[in-house]
Amino acid sequence: LEHWHIRPEANEAIEMLQPAAEYLRTKDTPVAFPTETVYGLGADATRSGSVRGIYSAKGRPSDNPLIVHVSDLHMLRSLLGSKHTGEDVIPVRYKSLIEKFWPGPLTILLPNPDPSPLAPEVTAGLKSFGVRMPSSPLALTLIKLAGVPLAAPSANASTKPSPTAAQHVKDDLDGRIELILDGGSCQVGVESTVVDGLCNPPVVLRPGGIGMEEIRSCPGWENVVKAYKDQSEEGKAAPRAPGMKYKHYSPKARVVLYESTYRDSKHGIIGADAVTATILATAITNGDPIPSANGHFRKRIGVIRTKRWKPAAGLQCSDLQIFAGQNGDHSETSYDVYTGDLKGDNGDVIGEVFDISLGEDTRGIAQGLFSALRELDRRGVDIIFVDGIDDDLDIAAAVMNRLRKAASEIRA
Ligand code: TXA
Ligand code: MG
Repeated sequence: LEHWHIRPEANEAIEMLQPAAEYLRTKDTPVAFPTETVYGLGADATRSGSVRGIYSAKGRPSDNPLIVHVSDLHMLRSLLGSKHTGEDVIPVRYKSLIEKFWPGPLTILLPNPDPSPLAPEVTAGLKSFGVRMPSSPLALTLIKLAGVPLAAPSANASTKPSPTAAQHVKDDLDGRIELILDGGSCQVGVESTVVDGLCNPPVVLRPGGIGMEEIRSCPGWENVVKAYKDQSEEGKAAPRAPGMKYKHYSPKARVVLYESTYRDSKHGIIGADAVTATILATAITNGDPIPSANGHFRKRIGVIRTKRWKPAAGLQCSDLQIFAGQNGDHSETSYDVYTGDLKGDNGDVIGEVFDISLGEDTRGIAQGLFSALRELDRRGVDIIFVDGIDDDLDIAAAVMNRLRKAASEIRA
């Protein structure tokens, strides 16, 4: 597996991207590359052979369509066929969004012409295709040099959290691909927002890097509605973005997410508004061997903190105490992982806590989220407790959407 470090601002970047672009044009094995959202697994979207390579490398179900990435509007128009009326082929409703959010983390759906320049595998039989212009300079340059649109899903193995660093791609796809372009960690950290403006009212199919209220502020989008279902609402309607029905974002460990109702990948929704400490004790012991005082059932516990949980105070519960934030252990990743002991009521150590703080800033939380889930898996934790955030604004909706999926086993 070749791993090329590329600094987009460096002079040699273009010389390094040229052979990668050539590889994309001619080979059928996909190339991993960074975008501002997450790493993508790219292939020439106009060739069936290379697009099939994506599905097989990821183990992705073939009925889940891919997002097409373009470097400019000229390339986009070349995918839309021609209109003879003198009108622009880009539907007028998208003009305001394109102007405001491109290049950037927004994917729009467009009608796929017949015949289409796109390989049929890209759209998985749908009449529309999803497309975005990424803002990452490395991604834009790569597409431009390739001279073809790149189909690219997130570069994780199917069901795993999306990769936000080259190492994550390596962990998932080593042996399945030949080339990773490493541009460092991704700025946004969650995937693009997917919108459909071909229907009335227009809808958000997947929350992501651009918030719903930002979209609503654009002309033609005042009535935009949410068409994705968070786990709590599932069963009310069929998911509309094909990818949203699949198991997703799941680390190996069991995930317990705290919000006004809390959920647990083992038991589903257990209750509402319980005291954190009680839930914690229940979740640790419920259905599992109760940790013994002599440490025979030592547990490894991951904690992802956002606003509410304070490290120094520790998390108290009736028979267990977690002292997080002790024994500072600086990991090689961009955040600190603190390890500390989990003690029983007689003071014996019965487990180990790995504590990650993502800070209070929503953008920072989004940026570090997938990395934190993966880091805790790497540490071999049995269970991950995550402090939820209010999902009312901007990228917070995407954070909570991904966390609810990770914490739910009720996946269609
Ligand atoms: O930020 C992103 O969007 C990243 C980077 C690499 O660009 N890509 C990404 O791709 O997240 P993927 O394949 O993991 O997710 C694509 C989502 C899926 O939920 C898929 O079902 C939906 O977009 N999608 C793609 N084409 C569609 C279409 N024609 N109609 C409805 N949904 C579509
Ligand atoms: Mg994905």
